[in-house]
Amino acid sequence: MSLARISISLHDPIGTIAPELYGHFIEHLGACVDGGIWVGEDSSIPNDGGVRLDVVAALQRLKVPVLRWPGGCFADHYHWQDGIGPRGERPRRVNLWWGQKVEDNAFGTHEFLRLCHLLGAKPYLAGNLASGSPREMREWVEYCNYPHDSTLALERARNGSPEPFNVQYWGVGNEAWACGGDFSPEDYAREFRRFATFLRDFPHLPLFLIACGPNRNDPEWTQRFFEELFRSGLGLFKPRIHGFGAHYYTTNHGSGAGTGQAGTTTQYSIEQWYSLLLDSLAMEPLIVQQRAIMDGYDPQREIKLLVDEWGTWHAQGSNLNPNSLWQQQNTLRDALVAALTLDIFNRHADKIAMGNLAQAVNVLQSLLLTDGPTMLLTPTYHVFAMYREHQGGQSLRVNFEADAITFRSPGQLDAGRVPLLRDVGTEKQLPGLMGSASRKDGSLTLSVVNPSASEAVEAEIELHGAALEGATVTTLCHDDIHVHNTPDAPDALRPARGAVEARNGRWRHLFAPASVSVLQTALR
Ligand code: AHR
Repeated sequence: MSLARISISLHDPIGTIAPELYGHFIEHLGACVDGGIWVGEDSSIPNDGGVRLDVVAALQRLKVPVLRWPGGCFADHYHWQDGIGPRGERPRRVNLWWGQKVEDNAFGTHEFLRLCHLLGAKPYLAGNLASGSPREMREWVEYCNYPHDSTLALERARNGSPEPFNVQYWGVGNEAWACGGDFSPEDYAREFRRFATFLRDFPHLPLFLIACGPNRNDPEWTQRFFEELFRSGLGLFKPRIHGFGAHYYTTNHGSGAGTGQAGTTTQYSIEQWYSLLLDSLAMEPLIVQQRAIMDGYDPQREIKLLVDEWGTWHAQGSNLNPNSLWQQQNTLRDALVAALTLDIFNRHADKIAMGNLAQAVNVLQSLLLTDGPTMLLTPTYHVFAMYREHQGGQSLRVNFEADAITFRSPGQLDAGRVPLLRDVGTEKQLPGLMGSASRKDGSLTLSVVNPSASEAVEAEIELHGAALEGATVTTLCHDDIHVHNTPDAPDALRPARGAVEARNGRWRHLFAPASVSVLQTALR
């Protein structure tokens, strides 16, 4: 393998990496909220007013910038009034989408905003468009934000929060193309306008209203939505829209949530390892192409592109607790997906304003897994911790030259599913090294992923605009590409720290196979 080259430029930065790109998401699904975040005040698990302290402490270390709640699909049949007032008197409702279990509403608006306060995270409330009303959503805004003595503001005070919560981010529905009402883009655009008309700013706080964007990189949804959004009305009112949230899950080549070309959560071949990593790279064309479509309607980029759900979605089967819906184990492969995705966000910091991993605890590509009193940090958690310094940095242009990896697209593992015959055995390629770089407060951060399952890659690294000095390097890697943390081996995978010396203002570094590395140095 030839020597790889990484060149970073201090000139012509791409833009500021919004801290919100490192955001998270929790939903009333499986054990995410119930058991993962919320255990109730009477639990033997140490808690702060019902919220797990171990989870809070772990999330605090990540500097979570923004947290989305209550869904997801759950958002469009959630009625916020169910989750306020004395807990013992809150209604017990059936959770329509997620197992039809009884939702006791113990974790509601005040509990969520208390969690955000503990984390120092901005709240993002996803409102109910499909089964709610403009009045209901508008009253939630008033309940949360009105600073004077309206009936709803006084009710908030009686429920323990005299000061307004000042929530800026409001989702106006979720996945309107599916569980959020099964709308056509035109019908959703008209509904969005109707709701947004009533979601007015209070003088002290401009709202940030988020419309439902496409499923994966669907150009049709976006074009037809914006076409209708700007067409309808007499032009007396400018549509109130500030964000447009796409969703992208890394799966097994379109077969959704089943087993397929990428194997299962913890069982996969080397080809299946590559196959899933390749699927995660589709985030890049999504951002570029969706932004380009939006630019056609909004050349000044006043409406921001968000990816408010992303992550791996594997087959069920390697839960810590088999009764915990969509609880996935999380391996080194998921860690690489997280790193590749965050690098894509950083490299497109001029085009994307928020990202929310699905979901923070116990669901899909989670940061944390809990089982009763036990809590584990997943490999994905470690990536978010390693990449923390990118938040708020200036994204720098960085060029990677490394031999590409060629692999054959694998067949399906599960005979019960229709094979994607056109793909099986096709030769595919992955770049040999990928990553991103940023500068902040006089220091440089370079993150690098080596996706090769077996080969280390040696690279020479140069910086245009300054000489490099010695650096620290944090690396997440393992000999076994299936490695994951369990209650018996909670630190089977965790980052290791080392150092890189500079020679003639450059670095030379050997990137281990299947690794994520973050190099940091002071800039003089
Ligand atoms: O994150 C799990 C689910 O995935 C969400 O509820 C929904 O928005 C998406 O389909």
